[in-house]
Amino acid sequence: MIDGKKVLFSGMQATGNLTLGNYLGALKNWVTLSDEYECFYSVVDLHSITVRQDPAELRKRARNLLTLYIAAGLDPEKNCLYYQSHVSGHAELSWILNCFTYMGELNRMTQFKDKSAKHADNINAGLFTYPVLMAADILLYQADVVPVGKDQLQHLEITRDIAQRFNAIYGDVFTIPEPYVGKAGARIMSLQDPAKKMSKSDENPNASIYLMDDPDTVIRKFKRAVTDSVGEIRYCEEQPGIHNLIDIYCACTGKTPEETEREFAGKGYGDFKLAVGETVAGVLKPVQDRYAALQNDKAYIDGIIKNNAEKAGYYANKTLRKVQKKVGFPERIR
Ligand code: TRP
Repeated sequence: MIDGKKVLFSGMQATGNLTLGNYLGALKNWVTLSDEYECFYSVVDLHSITVRQDPAELRKRARNLLTLYIAAGLDPEKNCLYYQSHVSGHAELSWILNCFTYMGELNRMTQFKDKSAKHADNINAGLFTYPVLMAADILLYQADVVPVGKDQLQHLEITRDIAQRFNAIYGDVFTIPEPYVGKAGARIMSLQDPAKKMSKSDENPNASIYLMDDPDTVIRKFKRAVTDSVGEIRYCEEQPGIHNLIDIYCACTGKTPEETEREFAGKGYGDFKLAVGETVAGVLKPVQDRYAALQNDKAYIDGIIKNNAEKAGYYANKTLRKVQKKVGFPERIR
């Protein structure tokens, strides 16, 4: 608890261009959580180097992502928006937690298996212990809740196991975090293959809407979205493409699938796709405008980066000192 509020932690990697899926599935919901929780939203650059990165590019993307957090509506006075690499406690706690994590547990992680298949020439130890660093992120702030996508649930599970194991030995050191599964936390699928999640690393540019796509591009991609030959706008599993478009429309408008079915009853796919495209373009426009304005205000963003790193560091150190004492590291002499 911080100031009587429960603590929330989440983070994103600054790799690839964020998609509409990241926005509707995560960022947009983060904004609504910031009144209820004391929120830490990190740009997790330590995680990014588990695969090879171009240094200048990584730095640029990290800054863009932090700027985008603000452009999406996260108030940096209320939410702690910071770079993971600016708070050394993440790496320090991660080391300690490594010593409380079993090889067998890490071997079971499906993301490790996927990523090592994808980067067979660089299966490094960091990739293997990635979930331990993630556990350190969360436990460092004594987070009560962690909003994550389905693909990260296994990492949250191991975080809880590590925390419980540590607490069983040393007493109540860590808060045991719960996943935050928001109300129908929109899971947005690829526009070209509605069986696949919309992904920032998709090779087909028509599969994903990027947050910085201009209105014409957005509308063009929706016009090309894969649907079916049924010809009716119905929210059902037999029509996964239309299902996805309805989900997107509802996430943007706040309407229900039933209302959407009624609104477009008797209309063709062309009309519906255009409506979804225009709606999405309309949702992205203000975010893009704020983003452009923020990018011109270097001093403002620098100030946020500095202040929030200090704030995060303060809370991180509180936990880290406690943990160091518990495991038997000597007191600092002052
Ligand atoms: N691994 C997460 C992802 O790729 C990002 C992440 C790192 C994270 N640390 C975290 C998410 C802590 C939630 C909490 O999506």
